[in-house]
Amino acid sequence: MDRIPVFQPLLEAEELAASESALRLGWLGMGKYVGDFEQSVLRLLDAPDRHAVAVSTGHAALHLALLLIGVGPGDEVITPSFNNIADFQAILATGASPVFCDIDDRTLCIDLQDAETLVGPKTKAIIVMDYDCILCDHAAVATFAAKHQIRVIHDAAHAFGSRHEGRMVGSFSDIAMFSFDPVKTITCIDGGMLIVRTQEEVRRLHEMRLIGMGQPASVMYQNQRAWTYDVHALGFRYHMANLHAALGLAQIAKLPDIEKTRRATCIRYNEALGSLPQVRVPQTDFKDIIPFLYYIRVPGSERDALRKSLTEKGIDTGIHWQPGHWFSLFKECRRSALPVTEQVGHEILSLPLHSKMPEATQLRVIDGVKAFFA
Ligand SMILES: Cc1ncc(COP(=O)(O)O)c(C=O)c1O
Repeated sequence: MDRIPVFQPLLEAEELAASESALRLGWLGMGKYVGDFEQSVLRLLDAPDRHAVAVSTGHAALHLALLLIGVGPGDEVITPSFNNIADFQAILATGASPVFCDIDDRTLCIDLQDAETLVGPKTKAIIVMDYDCILCDHAAVATFAAKHQIRVIHDAAHAFGSRHEGRMVGSFSDIAMFSFDPVKTITCIDGGMLIVRTQEEVRRLHEMRLIGMGQPASVMYQNQRAWTYDVHALGFRYHMANLHAALGLAQIAKLPDIEKTRRATCIRYNEALGSLPQVRVPQTDFKDIIPFLYYIRVPGSERDALRKSLTEKGIDTGIHWQPGHWFSLFKECRRSALPVTEQVGHEILSLPLHSKMPEATQLRVIDGVKAFFA
């Protein structure tokens, strides 16, 4: 019996052809494909007033976003403890400290009322994250940020291609970021992107992603490089390479199919599992959403046994995530009581979700969950 992985990238003839042409081109570093990928994301976002800057990973995007807004030693950045380690590590990398707030029990996104109790003189920014298939209340986030005069980094790693009240995710935030890592809705193998508002932000990001070189992107996007330039700012080797961007372009062309099939799979999961008394499914109809993963919540006392039972049937599951304040590195970070995060950390379970997932494969997962609770 085939093992069903939690994630499975959609790699077809188009991705293989795109990789081959990027390799045959022979310009392996940052080049034309990277510029084309940025433009293609901006077209998707329908955001003519925004700028896109491609980088090597989502983590790099978060790190640069924090540096861009001046976060540094002694500062605090509020974010849910129920978030990705990349967010916490990016904050630490600037010398600042993460401060952990709780999440809302229905959306699993930031609980702004709880976040409010943590705002203090050192608070420089907030990182909000759309968890999987339910988005934050971004209007309330903007009001919160204006009230406290802090910047917002919108971690939209899970929400690529989704819409929020009619607008594309990434098109309306202070600063938004995406990840295109191996398991994301679309993948570049590894990649990330920042969406910002001003040319000045673009200029600084271009330098920071290229170890501080004042090398114009317009030259590199012609598969060329300038040999003379100045270096006057801190930088990292965080640029995106042509091969990765070529894959991203092939993937983005398939977004309509990816959207349709992932959404249909999630709707079927909700219908099949929503009536089980022990299971809580995401409280959404998935309208306007391209789901990144499919999660359920089960009693914490039963989760490990369910995972074991599914593994025995060849079905992999995931845990997104263990909360940040559970890790040794972050357990001393300032935080609120986090009752919802504590509970969700024990209950959350990701089931397999793939683009173009065959119904028969999904049925095996559904039957496996039902059999466990029968
Ligand atoms: C919410 C969230 N933010 C950031 C990241 C980091 O992105 P990357 O893996 O591209 O560094 C991830 C990756 O899983 C994520 O899920």
